[in-house]
Amino acid sequence: MTYSLNVNGKAQEADVEPGTPLLWALRDSLGILGPKFGCGIGSCGACTVHIDGVPVRSCTTPVERVGAGKVTTIEGIEASAIGQKVQAAWEELDVAQCGYCQPGQIMSATALLTKTPKPTDAEIDAAMNGNICRCATYTRIRAAIKKASGQKAGV
Ligand code: FES
Ligand code: FES
Repeated sequence: MTYSLNVNGKAQEADVEPGTPLLWALRDSLGILGPKFGCGIGSCGACTVHIDGVPVRSCTTPVERVGAGKVTTIEGIEASAIGQKVQAAWEELDVAQCGYCQPGQIMSATALLTKTPKPTDAEIDAAMNGNICRCATYTRIRAAIKKASGQKAGV
């Protein structure tokens, strides 16, 4: 079946079975490889994308649930000024280790700063809680979020 999706500002057609997770529509049908498969059950955050600016786990979001929602992946995050700041802070602080979880981390961080421009450590921890990093880059992630928000890193 063909689903019309708006991904990173472009209308695209994904040809997948009903019930297919958005993650696989993006990766397998549309060739958008930034969102990663980690757990497949909504627990690790590697597959995080935005739908209308809200972070969602694309591994547990059936493609038909997207409807007319605007999907943004890591490939499209630089269209957002906050996304640009987050990416710049990530680079400056050299956050990534293996990098696998980082697209999802950046999507969650950008959504947080869009809603809460100057988050406290507790707000950062709450927003980033579902994004697991097997390389344990958590300290640098928090510092980069602080930096992107224009606050001093409290680490
Ligand atoms: S792959 Fe989606 S949350 Fe882990
Ligand atoms: S940087 Fe390796 S999993 Fe996070």
